[in-house]
Amino acid sequence: MKGILLAGGSGTRLRPITQVLSKQLLPIYDKPVIYYPLSLLMLMGVRDILLISTAEACPLFERLLGTGEAWGLRLQYAVQQQPEGIAQALLIGGEFLSGEGCCLILGDNLLFGDGVEAELRAAAEPQSGATIFACQVRDPQRYGVVSFAADGAVLDIEEKPQPPCSPYAVPGIYCYDGEAVSRAGKLRPSARGEYEITDLNRAYLHADKLRVRRFGEGVHWFDVGTPDSLLEASNFVQAVSHRQGLLIGYPEVLAWRQGWIEDAALAALVDGMVGEYAQRLRELAAGIKPWGRSEGV
Ligand code: G1P
Repeated sequence: MKGILLAGGSGTRLRPITQVLSKQLLPIYDKPVIYYPLSLLMLMGVRDILLISTAEACPLFERLLGTGEAWGLRLQYAVQQQPEGIAQALLIGGEFLSGEGCCLILGDNLLFGDGVEAELRAAAEPQSGATIFACQVRDPQRYGVVSFAADGAVLDIEEKPQPPCSPYAVPGIYCYDGEAVSRAGKLRPSARGEYEITDLNRAYLHADKLRVRRFGEGVHWFDVGTPDSLLEASNFVQAVSHRQGLLIGYPEVLAWRQGWIEDAALAALVDGMVGEYAQRLRELAAGIKPWGRSEGV
């Protein structure tokens, strides 16, 4: 399975912070926003990744992440000329995917907690159709919303319904089979002028090929569209890092845990790095902290 990491948009609700800097390059506590969804792809075992962003931000992401080789990845970059919707990422990535299944993840989504790894890995298994997730939130009307029948069957998915038809929002992480590109090609722009990911998911639903996995209460999902949500996510990561010593959103750790880089390569990565981020990695590489190969995301 390949990965598409969409880091587009103009971050209008975060102005003036995003006046000259992409939202996905802002910090969540100790690292850029983009590290978190990238780490989720790595957690799913995805190594071949296309990062899509604006013409202005693409070179910055390339400077930050490079080829990905140091983390055992193959990273490529593509430009989305206009913010014309999430589903457009599949069309931009059509050649890169060349008929393979993919996980599409939004560059500002962060997931953490009990069961995340198992759920994501299950969704990443090669299978026909699409798998998306549902997470109960207080303000579902800000998101894609999925409604369920009493027996758990999916009834419908709507984009930002007013009032919301259920408390279950759809996080920005979607797994598709090889048909996603051709299905996305048949979509028409919505009233807000975007190729909606919700319309693609509905196409899978109507073809009876959509699975929705519900996250339990132990899962925390953040997206960072506003100053408050950016601060909430930072506070959360800071609290968990300090209290439990967990390493959330460290690509180096994910690469090392999965055996994509050796102990010596991890040690070499932190060699010469300064600051708290490096210090945590250094303790991990030296084996002097109890962060085993199965802890943290
Ligand atoms: C987008 C999707 C929405 C999804 C959300 C997740 O919303 O359209 O379905 O629930 O991402 O973050 P947007 O960020 O465009 O408002």
